[in-house]
Order: sequence, then C-alpha cells, then structure tokens
Amino acid sequence: MENKKLVVANLKMYLSTSDIATYLKKIAPLERQNVIFCPTSIYLPYFVGHGYGVGIQNVAATELGAYTGEVSAIQAAGLGVQYAILGHSERRQYFGETNAQIHQKIIQCLRAKMTPIVCIGETAEEYQKQQTKEVLKQQIIACFRDLPAEAISKVIIAYEPIWAIGTGKIPRNEEITEIASEIKHIVVEKFHCHMIPVLYGGSIKCSNIEQLENIKNIDGYLIGKASTTEEFFRLLEVVYYK
Ligand code: 13P
Repeated sequence: MENKKLVVANLKMYLSTSDIATYLKKIAPLERQNVIFCPTSIYLPYFVGHGYGVGIQNVAATELGAYTGEVSAIQAAGLGVQYAILGHSERRQYFGETNAQIHQKIIQCLRAKMTPIVCIGETAEEYQKQQTKEVLKQQIIACFRDLPAEAISKVIIAYEPIWAIGTGKIPRNEEITEIASEIKHIVVEKFHCHMIPVLYGGSIKCSNIEQLENIKNIDGYLIGKASTTEEFFRLLEVVYYK
C-alpha cells in the first residue's frame, strides 16, 4: 500500500537566490501532493504549480492593510499556496509570537482556504521537568480557542520539541508515540474533533528516519536542515519507496 505520510520541507531562511535555482531543478521530478515545500515567501511563486504541495512559513494575523513587511494568508492563497506553517518555535522565540496571534493566523488561513500546520513543542527545561503534556495542552487550547470542530478538522499539528530542533537529539520512539496520542486525545476531548493529523519534527536525518518510521501514530514529518540538502531525497526514499 502506498505510504500517505506527509513530508513537509521547512526550508527556513537557509537558501540563497542562486541556491534556490539549483534546488528547484533537483526537486523538479517530484510530483507528489504529499511532499510540501515551504520556502522563504519571495520564492513561493517558483514552487507553485509543479505537482508538489507548497506552504508559506508564516502569515500575518490580519487580512489586508497597512502592515509593512507582512504577507497575508489571502495573498499567499491567491498565488496557489495551500499550506502555512504557523507558530514555529523560531517565530515564537525570535519574533515574540504568542498563542493569541497564532490563533488569529489559524483563522486567517482557514478563511483563505489554506491548511495551517500549527507547531507546538516544549523547551528542554520543560521536558526535563516532565511538563511536556501540560505545555502542549496549554498551547493547543490557546491556539484553537473557540474554533469549531469543523475548522479544527482542517488543521495539521506538528509536534516539534524545541530541544530537538537543530540539535541532533530526538525523543525516543515511545515518547513520540505517547505524545502524538496525547495530542490527538486533547483535540478530541477539548474540541470534539477526531482524526487530526500529527507530524513529528526536530533533527530528522537519514540516521534516524528508519527508526522514526516504526512509529505507528504519526502522520508525517516536518524537516528543517536536512530538507535543504541531498539528504532530503534519501529521506523520501525511506518514507515512500522502501
Ligand atoms: P531541523 O530538522 O533542522 O532540526 O528543524 C526542524 C524544524 O524546525 C522544522 O520546522
């Protein structure tokens, strides 16, 4: 049976303009809707219309107006962008993004008929103090506040432990399994929404993808650095063609 897992490439701000030209040539043969590329906003038009999915890395919390430097969901959707990464920990950490703003951004995406990929995750300290479940619960409740189940059913959650991003460390399979089922449980319990997809992200590499593939209750991966290199194609081989 074909593997339906989503693989989301968060290219962050890694690639220069000339790198992007090379990268586009390399990914040209890919025509899978379940591989989603999320480049820097100015490169989005180059990625749209090639068969793979395309996502923006952030959207404005408002629609159109006097917001210098922002890009709205409705503008991205107008280009043919189908997904938006929201609330990535780098945005929370470096740009002070709050759950309340992420909540507004979810609404903007849904209005524009884009699929939000909402990132949640705990810090190293919270992980060590075994507060992960409580932290994730607070993030989910604050981000989804007052949204009906029908709206939440269009959202994807990405579990990205902050301590695993760019560090080479990842949680044990049992921990990811437990957290993914907890996330799904919270969404059912608090918002009566079933079957929400949950992705794992943080230091995914060729050296750990086979191990991660043994996890039964995650619906895909959010990949940072490794999605910008040749390693990405080897990861896709393991996920889709092994
Ligand atoms: P790395 O894969 O580089 O650890 O980044 C993960 C991430 O933040 C994806 O959104």
